[in-house]
Amino acid sequence: MSDTTVGIIGYGYWGPNLVRNFAGAAGCRVKWVSDFSADRLAIAKKQFSFLSVTQDYLDLINDPEVDAIVIATPVFSHFKLGKEALNAGKHVLIEKPLTSSVADAEELKNLAEQKALLLMVDHTFLYTGAVQKIKNLVDTDEIGALQYLDSSRINLGLFQPDINVLWDLAPHDISILSYINSEIPVSVNATGISHTHNGIENVAYLTLNFQSNFIAHFNCSWSSPVKIRSMLIGGDKKMIVFNDLEPSEKVRVYDTGYEMKTVEEKHRILVDYRVGDIYIPKVNPREALAGMAADFIGCIGTGNKPVSNIDLAIYVVKVLEAAQKSIKDNGREVKI
Ligand SMILES: NC(=O)c1ccc[n+]([C@@H]2O[C@H](COP(=O)([O-])OP(=O)(O)OC[C@H]3O[C@@H](n4cnc5c(N)ncnc54)[C@H](O)[C@@H]3O)[C@@H](O)[C@H]2O)c1
Repeated sequence: MSDTTVGIIGYGYWGPNLVRNFAGAAGCRVKWVSDFSADRLAIAKKQFSFLSVTQDYLDLINDPEVDAIVIATPVFSHFKLGKEALNAGKHVLIEKPLTSSVADAEELKNLAEQKALLLMVDHTFLYTGAVQKIKNLVDTDEIGALQYLDSSRINLGLFQPDINVLWDLAPHDISILSYINSEIPVSVNATGISHTHNGIENVAYLTLNFQSNFIAHFNCSWSSPVKIRSMLIGGDKKMIVFNDLEPSEKVRVYDTGYEMKTVEEKHRILVDYRVGDIYIPKVNPREALAGMAADFIGCIGTGNKPVSNIDLAIYVVKVLEAAQKSIKDNGREVKI
């Protein structure tokens, strides 16, 4: 079988990582990079001399040699570029988040289905060794029934001109949650604040409510003096701490728990605590984007569903859209 030929639109911050990983993926050839900026294209050409470069993305979309388009541009442009690429018969990979509305996301999904093309979103974290390990710990019932997930993703971040901090950072957390817990949230509550003149929230808190006994909470900020990337996942048997800033020991499993004692008196709660061993599982050190690129190229060939599949990507946009409504309504509960 011949190589899948790829064209990449957007060579800003993230684009170079995509070019490097697609160029290294088996069965893949990166032919084109497009960016509005001639300076960015000059850098691309210097870094990867085999590339053809253009300021007009239509050169990629109209090239009959190109099988797949990768879109690494700001979120507001994802829908238009994705639609044009699908209409031209190309498989499409879009950077997270898929689109800036659920309606647009569903239109792209339907279009891809009609044309029997693969539409996938780069939810990079799903391909990290750490998240793969966490999923395995949940799936094998090592930590028991899930009770909570609590994540902090905060640093002195780049203020985005078109999207708030949840649209920028929370796709990582929502996609991880969706990957490890198949239960769909029933509603969200979100609050946030903007400290700039454009009203775009730079600090936000998002809670996802579920039918079961499980709750998830995300703290996202571009205004923190320190960088924190930590996630706590509690089960009724064990608990996980995922610290993505740890170079190798990212996942720790705590044999920690508690049980309620039955007591005669109605207004007293007696709790039996258990604090046991902590162990650090080995995680696959492979670069996540290499796994993501391999999954996209592989699924074009096989027709299989990728790990980061379109339904998961739409779930992420649904949560973000509901969170946006909740923030604008002072934290009111918004059904999903
Ligand atoms: N998966 C991850 O971990 C991760 C990390 C960072 C960014 N991202 C995502 O990647 C996307 C891009 O983010 P970024 O930080 O690289 O943005 P960026 O602003 O640094 O770069 C975007 C580039 O796209 C170019 N561009 C925009 N529209 C274009 C068009 N129609 N044709 C050609 N070029 C065009 C711009 O000139 C710019 O150079 C966003 O969706 C973001 O959420 C994902």
